This record gives sequence, structure tokens and C-alpha cells, in this order.
Amino acid sequence: MGEEKKILYSGMQATNTLTLGNYLGALKNWVHLSEDYTCFFGVMDLHSLTVRQNPTEFRQNAKKLYALYVAAGLSPEENVLYFQSHVSAHAELAWILNCFTYMGELGRMTQFKDKSAKHADNVNAGLFTYPVLMAADILLYQADAVPVGADQKQHLEICRDIAERFNGIYGDVFTIPEPYIGKAGARIQSLSDPEKKMSKSDENPNGAVMLLDDRDTVLRKFKRAVTDSESAVRFDPEKKPGVSNLINIYSSVTGKTKEDVEAEFDGKGYGEFKAAVGEAVADELAPLQKKYEKLMAEKSWLEERIRENDQKAAYCANKTLRKVKKKVGLTEP
Ligand code: TYM
Repeated sequence: MGEEKKILYSGMQATNTLTLGNYLGALKNWVHLSEDYTCFFGVMDLHSLTVRQNPTEFRQNAKKLYALYVAAGLSPEENVLYFQSHVSAHAELAWILNCFTYMGELGRMTQFKDKSAKHADNVNAGLFTYPVLMAADILLYQADAVPVGADQKQHLEICRDIAERFNGIYGDVFTIPEPYIGKAGARIQSLSDPEKKMSKSDENPNGAVMLLDDRDTVLRKFKRAVTDSESAVRFDPEKKPGVSNLINIYSSVTGKTKEDVEAEFDGKGYGEFKAAVGEAVADELAPLQKKYEKLMAEKSWLEERIRENDQKAAYCANKTLRKVKKKVGLTEP
């Protein structure tokens, strides 16, 4: 009998088109994981509801995200690519886990503090319990490994705490997930404010490169990227956050080491360096964008893959949910 592969779980919010940060920090690194793991990747549409959405745009964005997953190279035959909201077990387990999570630990989440400051007019309960839904996502599939960028580490830690607490009461119900540390690109910063992470919700439209930006837009955004008053292309995140971020991006895209990048641009000015980073990123995105356009033109193929994958996901998730319901003493229907 062949050795069973370990299980890996991750996903992205279905809010808008993805940023280069989502791509280099997550998506690009997911593509080869199915060689070593049984992979589940969700379109996290329930999480997106913590921010008010326009229903028509939201539906489109969720489908676009699915197409971007596939265009970036995630095969819907070799991975389980599905919609979170199509598997009702997520919401059900999240409720149960809410009852095993303390207000104090949720209040300590930095993302909650940041987001509630940013959306002060809509600090809803979903924003507060966001990490519990995320824990339900991961635990339903008995995931061993969860690849996430640095910004999501704290959420993974609380997921482990909740799972250990639950297992401590009811026995070994959940696998305790480990963070999966990817290679480069763990944290891509904003081009306009390199002290902040590159984010879809950046107020400055030049701060974030979007995956579907055309070539000219990509080049322009890199040309305007904030650097410093020196002119040396040197990796030093403390003193030179802007340039270091660009080196990080360039090295993630080209596969070159940071030292190689420094050597390549030794004695050359920032103008030349920024143009080269822009070109490299635009070249990386071009084939992905072409594939994306093709997929969006063949919607029925995508719809069929979504249906199949939703079923595969539901099968696994419901197995765990049935076990949890039994353990906590809910009656069977
Ligand atoms: P989301 O949609 O905010 O981000 C998706 C992934 O992209 C990474 N990321 C970045 N990496 C590097 N640099 C950046 N600037 C950058 N911005 C975003 C994130 O670390 C993440 O890996 N809560 C999750 C979605 C989620 C999830 C889950 C993830 C819901 N349930 C279960 C794993 C497991 C999130 O905020 O994704």
C-alpha cells in the first residue's frame, strides 16, 4: 500500500482581484505542493462578508478568484479547489468552535485590531470571530500543514490552541496543523509605503500591483515605488525598506538570490533597477493573464470543475463535522 500523503489546506478571501503580495506570498508557492500533499484550496467567500460587499461584484469576484487559482497553475484535477460557502460544514463547525474560544484571545488578534481601526463604522461580530471560522476551515480537513504569509501566523496559532483545547476535552478529534513555511515572498510590502504590507485595501492605488494590471500599469507602479535618498541597491530592510522590498520581489520572480540581485545592479541607479523589477513582474504576469482570459471565456468548464470539487470537499468536511457533533453530544437528525 502506498504511503498516504499529508494534508495541506489554504485559501484566500474572495474580495477583489489579487495583489502581487497574495501571489508571491501564497499562490505561486502553492502550485507544486500537490506533488507532496493532498491539497485543499478554498475561495474564502464567507470571510469576505466581514466587509460589506456589492452582491453582483462579489459573485463575480469569487468566480474570478477561482479562475485566477487555475490560471496561476493550480490544477482542479490535482487539488481540491472549491468554494467555502458551498460546504455548509464550515459555518456549522465555526459555531461549535465559537463556544470553545475566549473573547480575550480573539481580542488580542492584531488583524482584528487593525481592521476595526480601519472600518470603525462596521466593527461587526464576524470580524471578531473571523479566526474561528478560519480554524474551522483548517480543522474540518484534518490539515497537517497550512501555508500562509507572515500576516496570518497569529490566526494559525489560535487555530492550534482551539484544536488542542477541544482535543483535551474530547480526545483526538482534530489534527494539530503546522505552519508551512514557503520560500521567498513571505511578506511583500506596499510600493508607496514600504512599512506596510501590500494590501488590496491600500488607499494609494500605486501601492499595490494587482495580478490583472496591464503591462504599462505594472511598469508605472514600479517606477513610482518609494525608495530612499541613497542610490545603492542593497538589501537592508531596516534602513532601506523600499529597496529591500523591491529586491525581495525581484528575487521571488526571477529565482535569483538577494546577493545576485545586489551584484547585478551594483553601480546602477534606482531608475534602472525599478524598471528591471517592473519588466520582470510584467513578464511573470503575462502568461497568467492570458490563461485567465481563456478560462473566463470557457465558463462552463470552470462551473463543472467547481461542482466536482465542492462535492469532494464536502465529503471530507462532513466526516469531521459528524464526529464533532457526536463528541459534543448533539443528537442525530
Ligand atoms: P488573504 O486573502 O488576506 O490572503 C491570502 C494569502 O496571501 C498572503 N498575503 C501576503 N503574502 C505576502 N505579502 C503580502 N503583502 C500578502 N498579503 C496577503 C496571506 O498571508 C495569505 O496566505 N484569512 C486568510 C484566508 C483564509 C485562510 C483560511 C487561510 C481563510 N481561511 C484557512 C489559510 C487557512 C486571509 O486573510 O487571506
